[in-house]
Amino acid sequence: MPKQITIIGTGYVGLTTGACMAYLGHQVVCIDTNVEKIAELKSGICPIYEKGLPELLSMGLETERLSFSATADLDLLQNEFIFLCLPTPQAEDGRAELAAIYEVAESVKSSLSSKAIVVNKSTVPVGTSKVLSEIIGREDVEVVSNPEFLREGSAIEDFLKPDRIIIGADAMEASDRVAELYSNLESPIIQVDCASAETVKYATNSFLAMKVSFVNALAAVCELVGADIDSVAKGLGTDNRVGSKFLQPGPGWGGSCFPKDMQALVKLASDSGYKFELLEAVVDANAQQFERIAEKVKKAVGKPLRGVHVAVLGLTFKAGTDDVRNSPAIAVSQLLLELGAQLNFYDPLVKSLPKGLSDGIVYDSAESAVANTEVIVILTEWPEFRDLDWVKFQRIAKEPKIVDARNLLDPRSLRDIGFDYTSLGRK
Ligand code: UDX
Repeated sequence: MPKQITIIGTGYVGLTTGACMAYLGHQVVCIDTNVEKIAELKSGICPIYEKGLPELLSMGLETERLSFSATADLDLLQNEFIFLCLPTPQAEDGRAELAAIYEVAESVKSSLSSKAIVVNKSTVPVGTSKVLSEIIGREDVEVVSNPEFLREGSAIEDFLKPDRIIIGADAMEASDRVAELYSNLESPIIQVDCASAETVKYATNSFLAMKVSFVNALAAVCELVGADIDSVAKGLGTDNRVGSKFLQPGPGWGGSCFPKDMQALVKLASDSGYKFELLEAVVDANAQQFERIAEKVKKAVGKPLRGVHVAVLGLTFKAGTDDVRNSPAIAVSQLLLELGAQLNFYDPLVKSLPKGLSDGIVYDSAESAVANTEVIVILTEWPEFRDLDWVKFQRIAKEPKIVDARNLLDPRSLRDIGFDYTSLGRK
């Protein structure tokens, strides 16, 4: 049964939610104050790099199930479902910054139709839905928490084939009405209270970040005890209580969510009276992982890095996205800069030096970045790095050395080519 949906905010979450809800058959209008972005969207230009989203955007426009507006006209706010997909960035003190979401709730409250449901998709501290309810202050309007679990690079798939849909509501009738929106999907729908739904979101991201930090620490142990992390992760991950995903060693976790959500949960816990030392240790372990990779580069070069030319392959926080927010590649590269290294960058999607990096040259090919360098460090697991001409690179590098911080390449074949190859936790 098609429903009338208004999405407020057209970032990763808002745009993905709007396009997918239209694809599921609903009538969707997306609102954003960014006039240029709305104009682009109206003409079918997708402002974010997300596999499958441009196609869903044009399909939504063609079927007229998806439309965009730069103004929150009254009729748009009269729709039955109002999704809040607003930024909840990390404030200086690590807490979630909720001004945007509060302002929107305040500004729309009197326009909402009776029986409207405000659905919050933004990641918010536990208890925020309750505060939103108080701000809206209407007996005839419910606030429901419906957290998203969209990974950048696979957001469409994660929306249309989720492991589960979480709906947090204090009134079962409102919960059922939101569940109805997803009736075309096969995924299990888990209906809980608001606070629990908000907590599930932080719990999921924190647990996944902890799992990544665990495998990174395990890789360090493997190096010391002569084990192989790929074999250990395989043995560990086939236990269905552990699961094989998020056991890939790397330079650490980053992105626009993990760092923010981890800090927010630590702060939320301590504000509520619990010192979440386990998570604090995970946050520390992640910073140590950046240091560990920089140390590996220094060790591979075998001398201080001052003035040494280093090729850095990968700037995004992971493959499949153009997002550099809180990228471990940038954190590690900044450490190398502080050691005096001269950095040559190549990334398939990043063509200019991201903020957060005080120096370095971004090349438009891996070959030009690698020429005459004394070590190559792989910081993002772009599949195209496997198919680079490593035989040629072995010749054009000043020193044929690789630190593969994503365990992307095969050690034996790189060593057969003549590289001094190191990676994480592998023999
Ligand atoms: C994450 C959550 O997965 C998603 O559910 C939530 O809605 C938003 O935050 P995303 O930030 O896109 O999604 O990144 P994700 O794919 O989870 O990876 C997070 C970080 O962990 C990246 O830096 C990635 O490189 C790293 N990672 C992930 C590893 O180092 N090893 C792994 O095995 C998996």
